[in-house]
Amino acid sequence: MSPPTGGDERDEMSTPEHVAIIMDGNGRWAKARGLPRVAGHRAGVEALRNAVRAAGDAGIGWLTVYAFSSENWSRPKSEVSDLMGLLKLFIRRDLAELHQSGVRVRIIGERQGLTPDIAGLLEEAETLTAGNRMLDLVIAFNYGGRDEIVRATRRVAEAIRLGDLKSDDVTPDVFAGFLDTAGMPDPDLVIRTSGEQRMSNFLPWQSAYSELVFLPCYWPDFTREHFDDALRQYAARERRFGGVTAQGVAQGVAS
Ligand code: FPP
Repeated sequence: MSPPTGGDERDEMSTPEHVAIIMDGNGRWAKARGLPRVAGHRAGVEALRNAVRAAGDAGIGWLTVYAFSSENWSRPKSEVSDLMGLLKLFIRRDLAELHQSGVRVRIIGERQGLTPDIAGLLEEAETLTAGNRMLDLVIAFNYGGRDEIVRATRRVAEAIRLGDLKSDDVTPDVFAGFLDTAGMPDPDLVIRTSGEQRMSNFLPWQSAYSELVFLPCYWPDFTREHFDDALRQYAARERRFGGVTAQGVAQGVAS
Protein backbone atom coordinates (compact mmCIF):
# COMPACT_ATOMS: atom_id res chain seq x y z
CA MET A 1 0.00 0.00 0.00
CA SER A 2 1.28 3.46 -0.78
CA PRO A 3 0.15 6.83 0.50
CA PRO A 4 -2.10 8.73 -1.85
CA THR A 5 -0.15 11.08 -4.09
CA GLY A 6 -2.90 13.08 -5.69
CA GLY A 7 -4.44 15.22 -2.97
CA ASP A 8 -7.03 12.54 -2.28
CA GLU A 9 -8.41 12.10 1.20
CA ARG A 10 -8.38 8.28 1.09
CA ASP A 11 -6.06 6.98 3.77
CA GLU A 12 -3.03 4.79 3.23
CA MET A 13 -4.71 1.49 4.00
CA SER A 14 -7.84 1.98 1.93
CA THR A 15 -6.20 3.04 -1.33
CA PRO A 16 -4.95 0.09 -3.37
CA GLU A 17 -1.38 0.48 -4.53
CA HIS A 18 -2.02 -1.73 -7.54
CA VAL A 19 -5.29 -2.15 -9.44
CA ALA A 20 -5.60 -4.71 -12.25
CA ILE A 21 -8.50 -4.69 -14.70
CA ILE A 22 -10.04 -7.33 -16.95
CA MET A 23 -11.62 -5.08 -19.56
CA ASP A 24 -14.46 -7.37 -20.61
CA GLY A 25 -17.64 -6.82 -22.61
CA ASN A 26 -16.48 -4.91 -25.70
CA GLY A 27 -18.15 -7.40 -28.04
CA ARG A 28 -21.48 -7.41 -26.18
CA TRP A 29 -21.43 -3.61 -25.97
CA ALA A 30 -21.08 -3.46 -29.77
CA LYS A 31 -23.67 -6.18 -30.39
CA ALA A 32 -26.23 -4.36 -28.23
CA ARG A 33 -25.83 -1.39 -30.56
CA GLY A 34 -25.87 -3.37 -33.80
CA LEU A 35 -22.21 -2.45 -34.39
CA PRO A 36 -19.25 -4.62 -35.43
CA ARG A 37 -17.11 -5.97 -32.59
CA VAL A 38 -14.25 -3.67 -33.52
CA ALA A 39 -16.44 -0.70 -32.58
CA GLY A 40 -16.60 -2.14 -29.06
CA HIS A 41 -12.83 -2.46 -28.91
CA ARG A 42 -12.42 1.12 -30.17
CA ALA A 43 -14.78 2.37 -27.48
CA GLY A 44 -12.79 0.20 -25.06
CA VAL A 45 -9.63 2.13 -25.85
CA GLU A 46 -11.41 5.37 -24.91
CA ALA A 47 -12.54 3.79 -21.63
CA LEU A 48 -8.93 2.76 -21.02
CA ARG A 49 -7.75 6.36 -21.50
CA ASN A 50 -10.28 7.49 -18.91
CA ALA A 51 -9.29 4.71 -16.52
CA VAL A 52 -5.61 5.74 -16.70
CA ARG A 53 -6.56 9.34 -15.82
CA ALA A 54 -8.85 8.19 -13.01
CA ALA A 55 -6.16 5.91 -11.57
CA GLY A 56 -3.63 8.77 -11.57
CA ASP A 57 -6.12 11.11 -9.89
CA ALA A 58 -6.93 8.50 -7.22
CA GLY A 59 -3.26 8.18 -6.28
CA ILE A 60 -2.96 4.60 -7.45
CA GLY A 61 0.63 3.61 -8.17
CA TRP A 62 0.12 0.71 -10.57
CA LEU A 63 -2.59 -0.03 -13.12
CA THR A 64 -2.45 -3.30 -15.04
CA VAL A 65 -4.86 -3.97 -17.90
CA TYR A 66 -5.57 -7.19 -19.78
CA ALA A 67 -5.44 -6.06 -23.42
CA PHE A 68 -4.83 -9.32 -25.30
CA SER A 69 -4.57 -12.80 -23.87
CA SER A 70 -2.56 -15.66 -25.28
CA GLU A 71 -5.92 -17.36 -25.89
CA ASN A 72 -7.25 -14.42 -27.93
CA TRP A 73 -5.33 -15.69 -31.00
CA SER A 74 -8.20 -18.15 -31.46
CA ARG A 75 -10.58 -15.29 -32.38
CA PRO A 76 -11.37 -14.66 -36.05
CA LYS A 77 -8.32 -13.37 -37.94
CA SER A 78 -9.99 -10.05 -38.65
CA GLU A 79 -10.66 -9.40 -34.95
CA VAL A 80 -7.08 -10.32 -33.99
CA SER A 81 -5.87 -7.92 -36.66
CA ASP A 82 -8.23 -5.19 -35.35
CA LEU A 83 -6.89 -5.63 -31.81
CA MET A 84 -3.27 -5.48 -33.03
CA GLY A 85 -4.13 -2.35 -35.01
CA LEU A 86 -5.72 -0.72 -31.96
CA LEU A 87 -2.67 -1.42 -29.82
CA LYS A 88 -0.44 0.19 -32.45
CA LEU A 89 -2.77 3.17 -32.71
CA PHE A 90 -2.95 3.51 -28.92
CA ILE A 91 0.83 3.59 -28.57
CA ARG A 92 1.36 5.89 -31.55
CA ARG A 93 -1.37 8.34 -30.53
CA ASP A 94 -1.18 8.25 -26.75
CA LEU A 95 2.46 7.63 -25.93
CA ALA A 96 3.49 11.30 -25.93
CA GLU A 97 0.62 12.25 -23.61
CA LEU A 98 1.26 9.31 -21.31
CA HIS A 99 4.92 10.30 -21.13
CA GLN A 100 4.05 13.95 -20.42
CA SER A 101 1.75 12.84 -17.60
CA GLY A 102 4.57 10.87 -15.97
CA VAL A 103 3.24 7.42 -16.84
CA ARG A 104 5.75 4.58 -17.05
CA VAL A 105 4.61 1.92 -19.51
CA ARG A 106 5.52 -1.72 -19.03
CA ILE A 107 4.36 -4.68 -21.07
CA ILE A 108 3.92 -8.19 -19.69
CA GLY A 109 3.34 -11.29 -21.79
CA GLU A 110 5.18 -13.31 -24.40
CA ARG A 111 7.04 -11.11 -26.89
CA GLN A 112 8.11 -13.95 -29.16
CA GLY A 113 5.73 -14.36 -32.05
CA LEU A 114 4.70 -10.69 -32.13
CA THR A 115 5.34 -8.93 -35.43
CA PRO A 116 8.47 -6.75 -35.47
CA ASP A 117 6.44 -3.52 -35.73
CA ILE A 118 4.43 -4.32 -32.59
CA ALA A 119 7.47 -5.61 -30.68
CA GLY A 120 9.30 -2.41 -31.67
CA LEU A 121 6.47 -0.14 -30.52
CA LEU A 122 6.21 -1.93 -27.16
CA GLU A 123 9.92 -1.50 -26.63
CA GLU A 124 9.76 2.15 -27.67
CA ALA A 125 6.97 2.79 -25.15
CA GLU A 126 8.94 1.16 -22.35
CA THR A 127 12.20 2.90 -23.20
CA LEU A 128 10.70 6.38 -23.59
CA THR A 129 8.81 6.24 -20.30
CA ALA A 130 11.33 4.27 -18.22
CA GLY A 131 12.21 7.24 -16.01
CA ASN A 132 8.61 8.22 -15.14
CA ARG A 133 7.20 7.76 -11.66
CA MET A 134 3.64 9.14 -11.50
CA LEU A 135 1.83 5.94 -12.47
CA ASP A 136 2.92 2.57 -13.78
CA LEU A 137 0.67 1.42 -16.63
CA VAL A 138 1.22 -2.28 -17.23
CA ILE A 139 -0.30 -3.66 -20.42
CA ALA A 140 -0.79 -7.42 -20.45
CA PHE A 141 -0.42 -8.20 -24.13
CA ASN A 142 -0.14 -11.73 -25.52
CA TYR A 143 -0.36 -12.61 -21.84
CA GLY A 144 -1.53 -15.82 -20.20
CA GLY A 145 -0.87 -16.56 -16.55
CA ARG A 146 -0.07 -20.23 -17.01
CA ASP A 147 2.22 -19.41 -19.92
CA GLU A 148 3.98 -16.82 -17.74
CA ILE A 149 4.53 -19.39 -14.97
CA VAL A 150 5.88 -21.97 -17.43
CA ARG A 151 8.27 -19.40 -18.95
CA ALA A 152 9.42 -18.41 -15.44
CA THR A 153 9.96 -22.08 -14.54
CA ARG A 154 12.14 -22.54 -17.62
CA ARG A 155 14.23 -19.54 -16.56
CA VAL A 156 14.56 -20.93 -13.03
CA ALA A 157 15.64 -24.31 -14.43
CA GLU A 158 18.21 -22.62 -16.64
CA ALA A 159 19.58 -20.61 -13.69
CA ILE A 160 19.93 -23.85 -11.71
CA ARG A 161 21.61 -25.57 -14.67
CA LEU A 162 24.12 -22.73 -14.96
CA GLY A 163 24.84 -22.92 -11.23
CA ASP A 164 23.48 -19.40 -10.58
CA LEU A 165 20.73 -20.70 -8.30
CA LYS A 166 20.30 -23.72 -6.00
CA SER A 167 16.96 -25.52 -6.09
CA ASP A 168 16.77 -25.30 -2.27
CA ASP A 169 16.93 -21.52 -2.57
CA VAL A 170 13.80 -21.28 -4.76
CA THR A 171 11.18 -19.65 -2.53
CA PRO A 172 7.97 -17.95 -3.64
CA ASP A 173 9.79 -14.59 -3.50
CA VAL A 174 12.68 -15.88 -5.59
CA PHE A 175 10.29 -17.48 -8.08
CA ALA A 176 8.31 -14.23 -8.38
CA GLY A 177 11.51 -12.55 -9.53
CA PHE A 178 11.45 -14.75 -12.65
CA LEU A 179 7.89 -13.79 -13.63
CA ASP A 180 7.10 -11.02 -16.14
CA THR A 181 5.92 -8.97 -13.16
CA ALA A 182 9.30 -9.12 -11.36
CA GLY A 183 9.67 -6.12 -9.07
CA MET A 184 5.98 -5.17 -9.23
CA PRO A 185 3.69 -5.24 -6.20
CA ASP A 186 0.91 -7.83 -6.38
CA PRO A 187 -2.48 -6.37 -7.33
CA ASP A 188 -4.48 -5.36 -4.27
CA LEU A 189 -7.65 -5.13 -6.32
CA VAL A 190 -8.75 -6.89 -9.50
CA ILE A 191 -11.77 -5.42 -11.30
CA ARG A 192 -13.65 -7.29 -14.03
CA THR A 193 -16.40 -5.66 -16.02
CA SER A 194 -19.31 -7.21 -17.95
CA GLY A 195 -20.76 -9.29 -15.14
CA GLU A 196 -18.56 -12.35 -15.77
CA GLN A 197 -17.06 -13.64 -12.55
CA ARG A 198 -13.83 -15.44 -13.39
CA MET A 199 -10.14 -14.66 -13.74
CA SER A 200 -9.51 -16.02 -17.25
CA ASN A 201 -5.81 -16.81 -16.74
CA PHE A 202 -5.06 -13.23 -15.61
CA LEU A 203 -2.26 -12.89 -13.04
CA PRO A 204 -3.01 -16.23 -11.30
CA TRP A 205 0.20 -16.15 -9.22
CA GLN A 206 0.04 -12.45 -8.38
CA SER A 207 -3.67 -12.33 -7.48
CA ALA A 208 -3.47 -15.00 -4.76
CA TYR A 209 -4.61 -12.46 -2.14
CA SER A 210 -6.22 -9.81 -4.33
CA GLU A 211 -9.66 -8.47 -3.59
CA LEU A 212 -12.00 -9.08 -6.52
CA VAL A 213 -14.70 -6.68 -7.67
CA PHE A 214 -17.05 -7.68 -10.49
CA LEU A 215 -19.02 -4.87 -12.12
CA PRO A 216 -22.02 -5.44 -14.39
CA CYS A 217 -21.19 -2.69 -16.91
CA TYR A 218 -19.52 -3.49 -20.21
CA TRP A 219 -15.96 -2.15 -20.47
CA PRO A 220 -16.74 0.66 -22.97
CA ASP A 221 -19.25 2.04 -20.45
CA PHE A 222 -16.70 2.04 -17.61
CA THR A 223 -16.34 5.54 -16.17
CA ARG A 224 -14.60 7.27 -13.29
CA GLU A 225 -17.77 6.62 -11.23
CA HIS A 226 -17.41 2.86 -11.77
CA PHE A 227 -13.76 3.13 -10.75
CA ASP A 228 -14.73 5.00 -7.58
CA ASP A 229 -17.42 2.39 -6.86
CA ALA A 230 -14.79 -0.40 -7.10
CA LEU A 231 -12.40 1.57 -4.87
CA ARG A 232 -15.17 2.05 -2.30
CA GLN A 233 -15.92 -1.68 -2.33
CA TYR A 234 -12.21 -2.36 -1.87
CA ALA A 235 -11.95 0.09 1.04
CA ALA A 236 -14.78 -1.74 2.83
CA ARG A 237 -13.04 -5.12 2.63
CA GLU A 238 -11.07 -6.63 5.48
CA ARG A 239 -7.81 -8.12 4.19
CA ARG A 240 -6.23 -10.82 6.30
CA PHE A 241 -3.71 -12.47 3.93
CA GLY A 242 -4.26 -15.87 5.56
CA GLY A 243 -3.73 -14.45 9.05
CA VAL A 244 -6.40 -13.69 11.64
CA THR A 245 -6.12 -9.93 11.92
CA ALA A 246 -7.16 -7.38 9.34
CA GLN A 247 -4.62 -5.33 7.34
CA GLY A 248 -1.99 -8.06 7.39
CA VAL A 249 0.40 -6.18 5.13
CA ALA A 250 0.79 -3.32 7.56
CA GLN A 251 1.34 -5.74 10.44
CA GLY A 252 3.60 -8.06 8.47
CA VAL A 253 1.40 -11.13 9.01
CA ALA A 254 1.04 -12.18 5.37
CA SER A 255 0.97 -15.92 5.10
C1 FPP B 1 -12.80 -8.37 -23.89
O1 FPP B 1 -14.00 -8.06 -24.52
C2 FPP B 1 -11.78 -7.45 -24.33
C3 FPP B 1 -10.68 -7.79 -25.06
C4 FPP B 1 -10.39 -9.16 -25.52
C5 FPP B 1 -9.70 -6.80 -25.50
C6 FPP B 1 -9.56 -5.59 -24.63
C7 FPP B 1 -9.05 -4.53 -25.48
C8 FPP B 1 -9.32 -3.23 -25.38
C9 FPP B 1 -10.08 -2.61 -24.29
C10 FPP B 1 -8.84 -2.30 -26.41
C11 FPP B 1 -7.46 -2.51 -26.83
C12 FPP B 1 -6.46 -2.21 -25.78
C13 FPP B 1 -5.33 -1.58 -26.04
C14 FPP B 1 -4.31 -1.35 -24.98
C15 FPP B 1 -5.08 -1.05 -27.35
P1 FPP B 1 -14.66 -9.16 -25.45
O2 FPP B 1 -14.28 -8.87 -26.85
O3 FPP B 1 -14.29 -10.52 -24.99
O4 FPP B 1 -16.17 -8.87 -25.21
P2 FPP B 1 -17.35 -9.92 -25.14
O5 FPP B 1 -17.05 -10.87 -24.02
O6 FPP B 1 -18.54 -9.08 -24.87
O7 FPP B 1 -17.39 -10.59 -26.49
